[in-house]
Amino acid sequence: EKGNYRHFMQKEIFEQPTVVAQTLRSYLRPVEQQVALPQIDFDISAVNRVTIVACGTSYYAGMVAKYWFEQFARVPVDIDFASEFRYREPVLEAGGLALFISQSGETADTLAALKHCKAEGQVIAAVVNVPTSSMAREADLLLPTHAGPEIGVASTKAFTCQLAVLAALAAHFAVKKGRLDASEEAEIVRHLLEAPAALNAALDHDETIAAMAHLVAPARDVLYLGRGPDFPLALEGALKLKEISYIHAEGYASGEMKHGPIALIDDKVPVIVLAPSGPLFEKTVSNMQEVQARGGQVILISDEEGIAEAGEGCIATIPMPKVHPLIAPLVYAVPVQLLAYHVACAKGTDVDQPRNLAKSVTVE
Ligand code: M6R
Repeated sequence: EKGNYRHFMQKEIFEQPTVVAQTLRSYLRPVEQQVALPQIDFDISAVNRVTIVACGTSYYAGMVAKYWFEQFARVPVDIDFASEFRYREPVLEAGGLALFISQSGETADTLAALKHCKAEGQVIAAVVNVPTSSMAREADLLLPTHAGPEIGVASTKAFTCQLAVLAALAAHFAVKKGRLDASEEAEIVRHLLEAPAALNAALDHDETIAAMAHLVAPARDVLYLGRGPDFPLALEGALKLKEISYIHAEGYASGEMKHGPIALIDDKVPVIVLAPSGPLFEKTVSNMQEVQARGGQVILISDEEGIAEAGEGCIATIPMPKVHPLIAPLVYAVPVQLLAYHVACAKGTDVDQPRNLAKSVTVE
């Protein structure tokens, strides 16, 4: 079943161009350059607030979506871990859409939160990868990801497919709210359709990344930094590394470094910086330079332009294709997944079945 791959996780990382394309096919009309969602029998333009609830990697996909919903549709978004949401007595007003994101569709906390929101009269949308799952059955609006079965405990292809669906949903929302005209919608569709090729181009750097695993494998702590929609990718990179290599890792919003975490920096701490070119590039780089000034060992992930501008003084750089900021979170998922994967291989841990973890968390 693994074909030529050593691990399911590796196979699933490499499937991303295909499964993201497959997922986008059911949410976009390439010829008309429009977003196309499944039939919805409620007025999405009347939604006045979105509440996103998920766990783990699916939660990070939700964090990225918050940036998109707010930027494109100008709709306020709340997001919470399912385990927190359930017990904090959230205020759910009429006209709200509650959005649940889950690979398995069975995560106990997320499912319980969904049932709570349903009982409170929220419209329920679910982005799930298992179409026969409990969450899929309970949803008013089912938004499937077409990632195919994900076997590796570390979620990879489900995440990028979730992002693809969420970007389409954000654009659809914005169109219905009159926030995007036809040409802006077409532009978003064009950018999303560039994602599969960009994911392929990112995967081309697999060997480069494998060759730098030795820079991270001996570390006790690793930090990941990003800004804006790439901040959740820093959190996701850290989660992947902890989960399969057992190295302590944290993701931070780069601008938060000087408010405390920078005290952690010394020449033994690798710092992975995600900095695609775009409106946030300069700010991220200046945070990166503050880290370097304190001896931080930076691995910079950026495009050629970004690496040319800021790569000096880094211990390594990972080149990414130059992409529109909208699809950067999908594309930059690849290097953080591959880095975690190769570090885990270098350490000889059980990549597909990490200790203490289960694929689907069906207990609280
Ligand atoms: O099936 P779900 O998406 O609801 O699962 C949520 C988390 O348990 C899951 O993403 C977990 O964090 C992964 N092992 C991360 O790689």
